[in-house]
Amino acid sequence: MASQNDCCVKVSLRIRPQMAKEKIEGCHVCTLVTPGEPQVLLGKDKAFTYDFVFDIDSAQKQIYAACVHKLIEGCFDGYNATVFAYGQTGSGKTYTMGTGFDVNVQEEEQGIIPRAVHHLFLGIKERKTQAQQQGTHPPEFKVSAQFLELYNEEILDLFDGARDPDCKSRKSNIKIHEDS
Ligand SMILES: Nc1ncnc2c1ncn2[C@@H]1O[C@H](COP(=O)(O)OP(=O)(O)OP(=O)(O)O)[C@@H](O)[C@H]1O
Ligand SMILES: [Mg+2]
Repeated sequence: MASQNDCCVKVSLRIRPQMAKEKIEGCHVCTLVTPGEPQVLLGKDKAFTYDFVFDIDSAQKQIYAACVHKLIEGCFDGYNATVFAYGQTGSGKTYTMGTGFDVNVQEEEQGIIPRAVHHLFLGIKERKTQAQQQGTHPPEFKVSAQFLELYNEEILDLFDGARDPDCKSRKSNIKIHEDS
């Protein structure tokens, strides 16, 4: 059985900085992260512990290093991994995952997905180069990607070139089934 430190499901909490609007409205930050502990205090007495807790000032790079780096390395050893963000609207899921595509985004602001893709292709390149240097047969890799949006019980294929880019007709031919 996996020990608690090596559990297959890990939960991280990230607290985003206040938005300008929240500051203007005089909202207070009601979270207090216990130094050196993955614990957050809500108000005075409600404490919650996670595998990781990232406070307001945490950087994208830190999140990646702590939560995702090991999983991408694991792919090369044949392990599957899933990373997903969960939280109420405006809590920072898109920011953290890095799917709000903007070519102007600074490198340090890049989220999990562009970092993971970069890491994966770098890992492939390194392994091929290593094999070449050792005079062994270079390993073969196959990478496939899907990009789907699930919104209001409808699945949209965001890589479907035939989709109406103006989203006037968002109809998708992918159906969600309750069972087989
Ligand atoms: N860690 C952060 N540092 C700086 N800005 C952040 C951070 N997290 C979120 N934001 C900003 O807060 C706003 C809301 O975040 P985001 O759009 O990622 O929320 P969301 O959870 O994806 O919301 P929705 O469910 O509505 O899609 C955005 O303007 C985003 O840039
Ligand atoms: Mg979002």
